[in-house]
Amino acid sequence: MCGIVGYIGSKEAYEILIKGLHRLEYRGYDSAGIALINGNRELSVYKAKGKVSALEDSVAEKDTTGTIGIAHTRWATHGEPNVVNAHPHYSQSKTLALVHNGIIENYKTLREVLVKHGYKFDSETDTEVLVELIEYMKESHGCDLVRAVHLALKNVVGAYAIAILDKNNPNRIIAARKGSPLIVGIGGTKEGETPEFFLGSDATPIIEYTDQVVYLKDEEIVVLNRDGSYEITNLNNVQQTPQLQTLQVSLDQLEKGGYPHFMLKEIHEQPKALRTCIGSRINKRQKDVILSGIIDHKDKFLKARRIIICACGTSWHAALIGKYFIEEAAHIPVEVEYASEFRYRNPVIFPDDVMIAVSQSGETADTLAAIKLAKEKGAFIYGVCNVIGSSIAREAESGTYIHVGPEIGVASTKAFTGQVTTLSLIGLAIAKEKKTLSDEIYTMLVDELNNIPEKMQWTLDNNKGIDNFAQMFTYCKNFIYLGRGYNYPVALEGALKLKEISYIHAEGYPAAEMKHGPIALVDEEMPVVVIAPKRGMYDKVVSNIQEIKSRKGKIISVVTEGDETVRVLSDYCFVIPDTRDCFVPLLAVLPLQLLSYYVAVAKGRNVDQPRNLAKSVTVE
Ligand code: AGP
Ligand code: GLU
Repeated sequence: MCGIVGYIGSKEAYEILIKGLHRLEYRGYDSAGIALINGNRELSVYKAKGKVSALEDSVAEKDTTGTIGIAHTRWATHGEPNVVNAHPHYSQSKTLALVHNGIIENYKTLREVLVKHGYKFDSETDTEVLVELIEYMKESHGCDLVRAVHLALKNVVGAYAIAILDKNNPNRIIAARKGSPLIVGIGGTKEGETPEFFLGSDATPIIEYTDQVVYLKDEEIVVLNRDGSYEITNLNNVQQTPQLQTLQVSLDQLEKGGYPHFMLKEIHEQPKALRTCIGSRINKRQKDVILSGIIDHKDKFLKARRIIICACGTSWHAALIGKYFIEEAAHIPVEVEYASEFRYRNPVIFPDDVMIAVSQSGETADTLAAIKLAKEKGAFIYGVCNVIGSSIAREAESGTYIHVGPEIGVASTKAFTGQVTTLSLIGLAIAKEKKTLSDEIYTMLVDELNNIPEKMQWTLDNNKGIDNFAQMFTYCKNFIYLGRGYNYPVALEGALKLKEISYIHAEGYPAAEMKHGPIALVDEEMPVVVIAPKRGMYDKVVSNIQEIKSRKGKIISVVTEGDETVRVLSDYCFVIPDTRDCFVPLLAVLPLQLLSYYVAVAKGRNVDQPRNLAKSVTVE
């Protein structure tokens, strides 16, 4: 996601726009840009890589006058974070400037059509295709800009929040949204005041000027006029009645979307984030996975002797789930390596090895070093990253971005489920090429993976009260987390979440391993979290629970909705909907993320920036 700001009124726009970008910087900070129309009707676009402060430095000597402008802070999805790919993007005629939040999924098709009509592109972005499409519609239909925007957006597949400046009409801003947020602030409404409008991806750039807002709805287009009039239409150009609302929240609350911490916001963002991650990679109608990164290099995967997945921390836990799935679906041996261990032990690497590097930040030093080592020895490198254009993404020869948006909380949540989802898509894409799954099983898995975001939402909606329950465990010194099969890595991840934000020691174990020593730890002071879905080795997990109960251990379980057997054995139960064994981790991890969050809050910890940790470990 990114940040969009807009202003039209009687004040100088520059300061309003820059301050607004700073307010939205938490939404993405790969690059920033601004477009202004000055008093001589000159349209200027200024862009800089990196944070908003870099943009401010770059325009110090430039003409930044003008009472109308738009601005953008980018979270790149298509095209590396650099100046060329930064927004705003000019149209070919340089009369339009556009900023965009979202993903135009059919941008390649649209770009091919526009190239055939003589359009040339400077950037790698999907956004530039959109502004050229609008200009093409305007010229080819001989219509006005508003109509051209309607026509263009009807041809777009994907998500957008956009704002457009038109050099030929400095008295209006055109904006629209579908799938990405956009808010109109209405100012200057009091007696004697001059009318003014604000635009924002959320209310943070708006709230200090006005509390009167209109939340644009999906497929709505708004024209904001300098005289204070505005009009909202839908894609069929039918007039819509604006619903004026009054903002009731504080600035700090707004930056976190109303949540007290980024981590809680990102936990609750996961259904939407996974919907974006899956995006157009699953053809819903044909129930088919389309991963260009795999298709373009399928020979590497078809001939692979083995796959080595290299990662650290939470990403290593996601990698372990990926191993289980890729082996089961694609019948390729998969080894999972801690990057820090792999890089120093002079590993045996074959030219027909494929290495997958999993990294949210794409900057983890150990993971980057591991793939460089593997590459030197001839392995094919595939990246699974969140940050576009990051070092690991650029070092890899191909890859798949997880597209879950910026993850601000140090404790990884939506990136973990995005990584597991992406590794599942990779396993399915390889299985399709290798024909290692029957059509029936393949289709059923693709269909069920596509259902997971809704099942995640169900899980978040049906596990209330964790904040109260967590209070009971703030005194604990140790936790054990248990899981079998696909849920053993979830046990590891749940334990890591608790450790890193509450500072309570916790260990994850394969459930059957308890008997080989750790059960000596169990007593009434030791909470044991058990992931016990009615899938996989359910009966064996129930036996493990009984072994713990007989030693007075406290059981916190994650069960399939409706399971009473484990519920009666548990001191506390989280419920998840039924799903395939391989997708249980995407649901079972959610209550464990919430448990660690609320225990840490109850202990007064700095949840978003826990002690001793950093969001990206770029040192060895
Ligand atoms: C996860 O909650 C931690 N913040 C940490 O383990 C993290 O997963 C690890 O440092 C790897 O980071 P990366 O995914 O950016 O490479
Ligand atoms: N898809 C656009 C790009 O990559 C917009 C990304 C965003 O929402 O910041 O530039």
